[in-house]
Amino acid sequence: MKKFAVLTSGGDAPGMNAAVRAAVRKSIYHQAKIYGIRHGFLGLVQGELFPMKLSSVADIIHRGGTVLQTARSPEFLTEEGQKKAINFLQKEKIEGLVVIGGDGSFRGAQVLQKAGIATVGVPGTIDNDIPITDYTIGFDTAVNTVTDAINKVRDTATSHERIFIIEVMGRNSGQIALHAGLAGGAESIVIPETPFNLEEVCNRLMRGVKRGKLHSVILVAEGAGGGIYVGDEIKRVTRQEVRVMILGHLQRGGTPTAFDRILASRMGAKAIDLLLEDNSGQAIVSRNGRIEAVPYDELFARKKEFSWDDYHLASILAI
Ligand code: F6P
Repeated sequence: MKKFAVLTSGGDAPGMNAAVRAAVRKSIYHQAKIYGIRHGFLGLVQGELFPMKLSSVADIIHRGGTVLQTARSPEFLTEEGQKKAINFLQKEKIEGLVVIGGDGSFRGAQVLQKAGIATVGVPGTIDNDIPITDYTIGFDTAVNTVTDAINKVRDTATSHERIFIIEVMGRNSGQIALHAGLAGGAESIVIPETPFNLEEVCNRLMRGVKRGKLHSVILVAEGAGGGIYVGDEIKRVTRQEVRVMILGHLQRGGTPTAFDRILASRMGAKAIDLLLEDNSGQAIVSRNGRIEAVPYDELFARKKEFSWDDYHLASILAI
């Protein structure tokens, strides 16, 4: 009987539970043993392994967060921590590990792979900042959460005739800001992929004010200087009333959308297929609607594509 394990690592993302469920049930379907590891890579260093059965993943497909818990583990970044993790996996005779997380988690998976432990990465992060894959698990839910927040803020923005700056997550990525900005009809979108053009943003705002526009919403990705900085600059130049709202970790919670659950189910199951085929050292991606696998090195060599067409479209539609 094959012996696999699954962990979630880095920032949690809605849909991670659906991916864990798929990995567990697909393993059991193929008569493999499957274990859960708590607290991501930290759990490998500390030896937090437990057997999972069909019922371990009952009633979790619709829940946000991760039932396996997660962590950002500075200890695993050290050589000593990595040795502990490798020794633990070898001692427990784990033949394949599914790592659900973002870019940093995939790098951790590659360390284990190079030490002879079969791993497969499943992209789970609300940031959607992983190259090649069109979507990561959790992104769609986060975009819907932000879009809902924009809808609500519009009501009060209109009543008070105010400019609202909404800061969304994305350390190095404007993906959430772009998609929610397009879906929510934001006036401007400020993202780390391109320099903040204060003059253009303010001119656009003032054109709207002159036309009698009752509200304006500007989306700012945290990696683009942050909402407070952008808000202060806009206030200084336009002398209009500005309010800043930082959505923060709220974006990481909530019940996953159907899209995220389906994506997670497909990806979690595909990860087990790869381990059964002895085809590890790869990350699962969704490309043009197809679930595929890409070697870690190929993924790390690529940059995340940014849809400049959508960025320009959002700007045209907010004319
Ligand atoms: O990587 C996901 C993410 O939510 C980023 O968008 C954000 O910058 C970061 O995690 C926050 O991390 P933490 O939860 O450790 O504060």
